[in-house]
Amino acid sequence: MNPMDDPAGPQLRPGFWQGLGLPAPATGPDQGLAEADMPADPVDLLQRWLADAVAAGLPEPNAMALATVSGDGRPRVRMVLLKGLEPGGALTFYTNRRSRKAADLAAVPRACLMFPWYAVHRQVIVEATVTPLSTAESEPYFRSRPYGSQLGAWASHQSSVIGSRAELEARYAELAARWPEGSQVPMPDFWGGYRAEPQVIEFWHGRRNRLHDRFRYARLDQGWLLERLAP
Ligand SMILES: Cc1cc2nc3c(=O)[nH]c(=O)nc-3n(C[C@H](O)[C@H](O)[C@H](O)COP(=O)(O)O)c2cc1C
Repeated sequence: MNPMDDPAGPQLRPGFWQGLGLPAPATGPDQGLAEADMPADPVDLLQRWLADAVAAGLPEPNAMALATVSGDGRPRVRMVLLKGLEPGGALTFYTNRRSRKAADLAAVPRACLMFPWYAVHRQVIVEATVTPLSTAESEPYFRSRPYGSQLGAWASHQSSVIGSRAELEARYAELAARWPEGSQVPMPDFWGGYRAEPQVIEFWHGRRNRLHDRFRYARLDQGWLLERLAP
């Protein structure tokens, strides 16, 4: 029986993981991060690690977990795609402004973002304050999306309950009749970007014997404070 179907609850009994044939825990690489590798500006290192994630062929290298908190204090997390890294270090992403995450960000304009690059023994965690991008700032990215994704943004009342998939597809078909391929699809007024301004950025690099390297940058009035953390 699948332990997740166990009437006593989804307990992972001894032996469960062996049954899945999980590999032995990785020992971790010999090389990691040293003080001398750490630039004055963490955005330089984030940019380098993003490029490395792309070069390593990781799936969705720009996908990041976006954690928000609701007005009544409930933590929530989901993946979104990083779409821009501004010179000052702000990370941008795009979504539906009536989604659950948008409601969270309206109530508590802070987020924690995490890049899960475990295949290359790396993780980056960003604590940020978040503000919506203006319509003018959001539009260029909307324009760059494929036609189908532009219609998809209109078709989905993201995070609301729907009766069926057929309903969603019927809405898409209606929109495709309204704006045939080749015509300009306007950006929905309920859609746009957000700018996450990092306050803290932590770089984690796996090492042997769980003696991982962790460096945390905290924003100061001028520049960043850099500290090494115990793993
Ligand atoms: C790899 C990946 C990338 C995603 N990128 C986005 C994105 O950029 N924007 C977005 O609104 N949803 C994206 N999603 C879907 C979200 O995870 C989520 O289901 C959706 O935004 C609704 O979240 P909410 O109900 O918490 O607002 C992505 C999902 C995955 C798995």
